[in-house]
Amino acid sequence: MKICTTVQEMRQARATLGTVGFVPTMGFLHEGHLSLVRRARKENEAVIVSLFVNPIQFGSPDDLANYPRALERDIALLKEEGVACVFTPEAAEFYPQGFATQVDVGGVALELEGPSRPGHFAGVATVLTKFFNIVQPQRAYFGQKDAQQCAVVQRFVQDLNIPVEVITLPTWREDDGLAGSSRNSRLTGGERRRAPVLHQALCRARDLVQAGERRRAVLEGAMRDVLVKASLTEIDYVTVVNPETFQTQDMVPENALALLAVRLGAVRLIDNLPLG
Ligand code: PAJ
Repeated sequence: MKICTTVQEMRQARATLGTVGFVPTMGFLHEGHLSLVRRARKENEAVIVSLFVNPIQFGSPDDLANYPRALERDIALLKEEGVACVFTPEAAEFYPQGFATQVDVGGVALELEGPSRPGHFAGVATVLTKFFNIVQPQRAYFGQKDAQQCAVVQRFVQDLNIPVEVITLPTWREDDGLAGSSRNSRLTGGERRRAPVLHQALCRARDLVQAGERRRAVLEGAMRDVLVKASLTEIDYVTVVNPETFQTQDMVPENALALLAVRLGAVRLIDNLPLG
């Protein structure tokens, strides 16, 4: 497995590979990330994984500084998965003095996580545009865990005619329902035990929809109840949207998507569940 730390090294390594499946990550890998890598291996001649904690998608310096890192362990895991190449650029080379360009996505990027994390999706779209230009993958793999991120990527790839197929794969969960996330490592023991309530709230909405409920207010109220009963009161949003627009409707559509963002101590967790 080749490890590239500069753009030039990465371009040279890519040129030696056939069809490439690309899995962009911020590292501290878990089974969710590895599920993307395994699918990419099946569908491409070679897999390239990026490990880069992208500074421009973080709103606060604290969140960036506290983001967990385990580069050596990540590299060992990816070697075992038969990855051809790992790309770990240096922030100073990736964003040199004078860097002044931003990919500013509208539409779906203006909802939910958009206003909650100003600048976040522009940071994601900018770093991915750079990665797509350098790695030139045939396919790129993303997790449903970050459903809105997937929609934002689909949008700008289409709008900017970037020749990559964007593939979304299901959320990997722990046995108790908690969605895999690098941020889970920052939960205390007590918080970790309460964290599956996020998934339980989403399942409550799915059960109601399956029983015929379509009123968004009822679904949101039911999810909120589940959270509050477990003393998860620091709710950023709990909602049900149209997955094409990420906008709400009073009566939710057949293929509705429930999403939530909740703070548990120092950690902000997000999760979602298709209700159809
Ligand atoms: P990161 O949070 O490291 O996630 C990398 C990829 O793994 C994303 O596509 C994410 O949706 C996916 N993923 C995370 N948890 C998952 C789970 N439990 N099941 C399935 N897939 C999961 O998302 C980012 O990094 C960054 O924003 C990035 C796209 C790399 C741009 O910097």
